[in-house]
Amino acid sequence: MNTLLGTDVAHAADLLRAGELVAIPTETVYGLAGHGLRQDSLHRIFAVKGRPLTNPLILHFASVEQLPGYVRFDAVPAAAHQLLAAFSPGPLTLLLPREPAVVPDLVTAGLPDVAVRIPAHPLVQELLRQLDFPLAAPSANPFGYISPTRPEHVLGQLGGQIPYVLDGGPCQAGIESTVVGFGPDGEPVVYRPGAISLEMLRAVVPATRLRSAPEKARPAASPGLLPYHYSPHTPLRLFGPGQAALPAFDPATTGALTLREPFPNLPAAQQVVLSPGRGDLAEAAHGLYAALHYLDALDLQQLFAERLPDTGLGMALNERLEKAAARK
Ligand code: TXA
Ligand code: MG
Repeated sequence: MNTLLGTDVAHAADLLRAGELVAIPTETVYGLAGHGLRQDSLHRIFAVKGRPLTNPLILHFASVEQLPGYVRFDAVPAAAHQLLAAFSPGPLTLLLPREPAVVPDLVTAGLPDVAVRIPAHPLVQELLRQLDFPLAAPSANPFGYISPTRPEHVLGQLGGQIPYVLDGGPCQAGIESTVVGFGPDGEPVVYRPGAISLEMLRAVVPATRLRSAPEKARPAASPGLLPYHYSPHTPLRLFGPGQAALPAFDPATTGALTLREPFPNLPAAQQVVLSPGRGDLAEAAHGLYAALHYLDALDLQQLFAERLPDTGLGMALNERLEKAAARK
């Protein structure tokens, strides 16, 4: 199959209506989108991504007004309404009680909640407004590999398997949406840290918390829990405060990813400084996956990556780096 790249929203809409898959830009990462209510399209998403059927998908909508009918709105906690009012459209995904007769089991892996997101990127907004169904879209990377933040990442990873990539340029935020569920008390629980930080969520709903270790360990509550994720093929290890000392290394075959300053004694072409001199975490998030794609393509023996401060976006970035380092 020949994969075309373009900005023709009407063409993307036609393909999706016909059950085909299209890569879509969002403000977080590129998504591998298909008709969210068609079994054939949903199966094709799992097949192209190489993703197990037990890992559920996010449904994407143009606006909050589209959610009733898919979500049991009477059962949505008050805190969810507050978060939607504060962060929609935007990089927020909420786990809300689904309308079981409408949302296919394949979308939620049979779970009672469906993940819903209202992306802000203008091209995907325009696309969703042309459709009368939601789009199911995981990140457009093969299962376990680095997420795509530029159209060329999608072409490199999924080219030949999908007919069209809707070109929205580089993704602004650069890391995935924050996934938020709700506890029995109705208070928000962060399932996946992401582009909206814990501090930002707490500014709207102060009781927002992270999942506890026992909650994370419950398999049914943690679909898609993986030993590794977001991983380059080149082995990666973390350094910085709290990390084991780095081993001796050969500068010819080692690459590095740092926040503010270059890594000493390594050629400039073998490293990426995410926010030179500034150490700005939003800038680091914007460039993280592109840096990992770049370094992985150099075919080095090993990569060193600096663990970042655990505040603000640093929490989500460190989670990605730790999972990237977990592939042995
Ligand atoms: O920024 C994003 O969220 C991107 C863009 C394309 O929207 N999408 C994305 O999708 O990152 P994906 O499939 O790569 O990650 C979705 C995460 C997975 O960890 C999945 O297990 C979790 O959300 N998830 C989806 N539905 C769920 C559900 N019903 N209950 C619990 N977790 C769910
Ligand atoms: Mg993903």
